[in-house]
Amino acid sequence: MKILAPAQGYALWAPTYSAETAVSALEASVVASLDLPLDGKRVLDVGCGVARRLAGARGAGASVALGVDLTPAMLAQAGGEPMLAASDVRALPVADGAFDVVWCRLVLGHLPALEQAYAELARVCAPDGIVLVTDFHPAAAAAGHRRTFRDAGGALHELENHVHDVHAHRLAAARAGLSLRDLRDRVVGDTVRGFYERAGRLDMYEAQLGLPLVLALVFTRAE
Ligand SMILES: C[S@@+](CC[C@H](N)C(=O)[O-])C[C@H]1O[C@@H](n2cnc3c(N)ncnc32)[C@H](O)[C@@H]1O
Repeated sequence: MKILAPAQGYALWAPTYSAETAVSALEASVVASLDLPLDGKRVLDVGCGVARRLAGARGAGASVALGVDLTPAMLAQAGGEPMLAASDVRALPVADGAFDVVWCRLVLGHLPALEQAYAELARVCAPDGIVLVTDFHPAAAAAGHRRTFRDAGGALHELENHVHDVHAHRLAAARAGLSLRDLRDRVVGDTVRGFYERAGRLDMYEAQLGLPLVLALVFTRAE
């Protein structure tokens, strides 16, 4: 199977991307467990995809909830979400310190290096603000799991993924002036069994039971 670069892969995945997967469900669950303070906050979702997490931020009281993403086809599926811009996490069209909470969810594994991305996430985050990063878990990649998806026609594709361990995230974040405040993961278990069952892959479920699929890191920006 040919490995697709993110822009090419997500252009293909965009029409069906909004359907949740085991990875996205675990990701949403670990982020919910963090109980981030969003009430009255300005939230930027970097690599927002089809913007499916912005409504939740607004529902939690965010005063502003905006998204940016590399792939125009993903943004085109974002329905009525306002003011979305196509841009790279490494060069955000956003003023310094403009957001209180900066999310970058399931994006950074698509980048070969983390430094520039963390520098931008930190730059657009207000002093004392929060940067949330989630990623495909390095342990899942080490166990041989790949970031795959089926397009609207049912063809299977693999997306480029670069493994960044926790140390690499912490180092790049620290260089950008961010301090780690929380670190969590989510493993394959009962809550996502249905995804495997519907795909006819309970064999895979049994093999992956207990394997961490998602990593979540919460950073704060010092003044
Ligand atoms: C797995 S999707 C996650 C989407 C969204 N964060 C979510 O959780 O539903 C990864 C997204 O990252 C975007 N992406 C990949 N590389 C990027 C980059 N260098 N800058 C900005 N977005 C990027 C892709 O276009 C895609 O929409």
